Amino acid sequence: MTRLELRNMRKNFGALEVLAGISLHVEEGEFVSILGPSGAGKSTLFQLLTGAIRGEGEMRFDGAPLDGARFAFMPQRDALMPWRRVIDNATLGLEVQGMKRRAARERVAPLFAEFGLAGFERAWPAELSGGMRQRAALLRTVVQQRDMLLLDEPFGALDALTRAAMQRWLETMWRNHRWTALLITHDVREAVLLSDRIYVLSARPARVVREVAVPLPRPRTESTAFARKAAAIEAGILDILLGAAEPISRPSDGENR
Ligand SMILES: Nc1ncnc2c1ncn2[C@@H]1O[C@H](COP(=O)(O)OP(=O)(O)OP(=O)(O)O)[C@@H](O)[C@H]1O
Ligand SMILES: [Mg+2]
Repeated sequence: MTRLELRNMRKNFGALEVLAGISLHVEEGEFVSILGPSGAGKSTLFQLLTGAIRGEGEMRFDGAPLDGARFAFMPQRDALMPWRRVIDNATLGLEVQGMKRRAARERVAPLFAEFGLAGFERAWPAELSGGMRQRAALLRTVVQQRDMLLLDEPFGALDALTRAAMQRWLETMWRNHRWTALLITHDVREAVLLSDRIYVLSARPARVVREVAVPLPRPRTESTAFARKAAAIEAGILDILLGAAEPISRPSDGENR
């Protein structure tokens, strides 16, 4: 079942053309990534989805005109408020929805263990590691129990090792919770590891240059066979991003040189 469908989304900021007609869809329970160069217009697309800004085109959810309240959104920047303890950051989305702080705390408290944050409820954001901060921001996002998750570069600021651990953790969480998720990233490996499908965007003004299926089994493991298949898909996407636009499954041309 199709949950989200975008048709020909366009957006200009004054004379600056940012989105040049984006069409995409996300099915129920699917993990889809949007991969594109920095400045392409990815965060702008999420702002259109959440209703923060207006553009042209058609946005539908479950077949009806889109209402931004469908999404639990984790923004690219400023995810945690430094002046609120971790638990009070976690309850923020619920409080904005009108829930009383005490009820919100009761809802989020049991999730701290699953998010690797047990014992840090009363800590300040500055006392957490980068990975913990991002897990806290994700916790705040998912407790809102919306229909779909929007994640804008959730791991972009993390070191490579923490990022790899967080990607595996997110893949497990996504499988356990059966979320429908749309992820923005410019990390090709991350997109391949997590996604069922990937939309590859051009540089600004963004358009979809390719839709890539990722037919790798789940759970996504660390086996050699898996790594080999994933690397082939990654290489194909890199070619697309670098403008080569060659087919995904091309034979290795290394021997012919
Ligand atoms: N509110 C705004 N007013 C004017 N220009 C904007 C506004 N928001 C974004 N832009 C411009 O739109 C373009 C796309 O920005 P956007 O943040 O969507 O890129 P992005 O793909 O998310 O990049 P990154 O990967 O670096 O996060 C940029 O040139 C940016 O300067
Ligand atoms: Mg962005």
